[in-house]
Amino acid sequence: MFYLIGLGLGDAKDITVRGLEIVKKCDKVLLEAYTSVLTVGKEVLEDFYNRPLIIADRELCEGNIDDFLKEAKDKDVALLVVGDPLGATTHSDMLLRARQYGVEFQVVHNASIINAVSCCGLQLYNFGETVSIPYWTETWQPDSWFQKIIENFSRNLHTLCLLDIKVKEPTEESLTKKVRQYMDPKFMSVKEAASQLVKVIERNPDSGMTQESLAVGLSRVGSPEQKIAVRSLQVMQDCDLGPPLHSLVIPAPTLHPLELEYLAQFR
Ligand SMILES: C[S@@+](CC[C@H](N)C(=O)[O-])C[C@H]1O[C@@H](n2cnc3c(N)ncnc32)[C@H](O)[C@@H]1O
Repeated sequence: MFYLIGLGLGDAKDITVRGLEIVKKCDKVLLEAYTSVLTVGKEVLEDFYNRPLIIADRELCEGNIDDFLKEAKDKDVALLVVGDPLGATTHSDMLLRARQYGVEFQVVHNASIINAVSCCGLQLYNFGETVSIPYWTETWQPDSWFQKIIENFSRNLHTLCLLDIKVKEPTEESLTKKVRQYMDPKFMSVKEAASQLVKVIERNPDSGMTQESLAVGLSRVGSPEQKIAVRSLQVMQDCDLGPPLHSLVIPAPTLHPLELEYLAQFR
């Protein structure tokens, strides 16, 4: 059996009882480590489960996951995913591959940033399409995500912006070499996201959004260190919400009175 298990957002103890029982009985347990991270590291999880974990980085998930899936034909193999395994990053491709190989699978759901974002008081029903904001480089500054924010904004919907994570990314120079070298891990902050957003707004003066538009910064949602800040985009560029992970929300222009009242706590 192949198990896809959500770990939730906060710490080791956020795994569900069913998830924990499966982790304890599995022959092999992998920890997906490139689409999201827990505030606690691998060692804390290993201590809590009392078993070793195999780190599944992007290379393993995209290249070698088939070996593990095939192994799951006769053994119990689990892949642990921070948040919900089908929330934001779907991992549904793995389930399709499992089906293709005739491997049975089960999904154990958990809290996701997709629903926990409601901790800021914005109602989940009023969110439009979620976007991902990628790190820009000198030569690569995509902004298609901005059009989606504008579409949501013009329909009076909030936008959850998931922020880029670079974990075990090969350096550009090493891409053409035999031996890969990797960049230090980096996680986009609300400050960085707000400043990219302000730059796109400046390039699109008719978008309907301005530097004065409201933004909600969220960090380490679900953990005891969770932080929420409501600022204009301009001010958000200087707002330090501490260690990762961060998300940014662009609220709809017209808010429900309850949403306004709840948000006011974080001004
Ligand atoms: C690709 S998504 C993966 C989501 C995960 N599977 C889930 O269901 O929550 C990762 C992004 O979600 C956001 N995120 C995830 N967990 C978060 C948290 N606890 N607090 C704030 N943002 C979070 C960050 O922007 C992060 O870069």
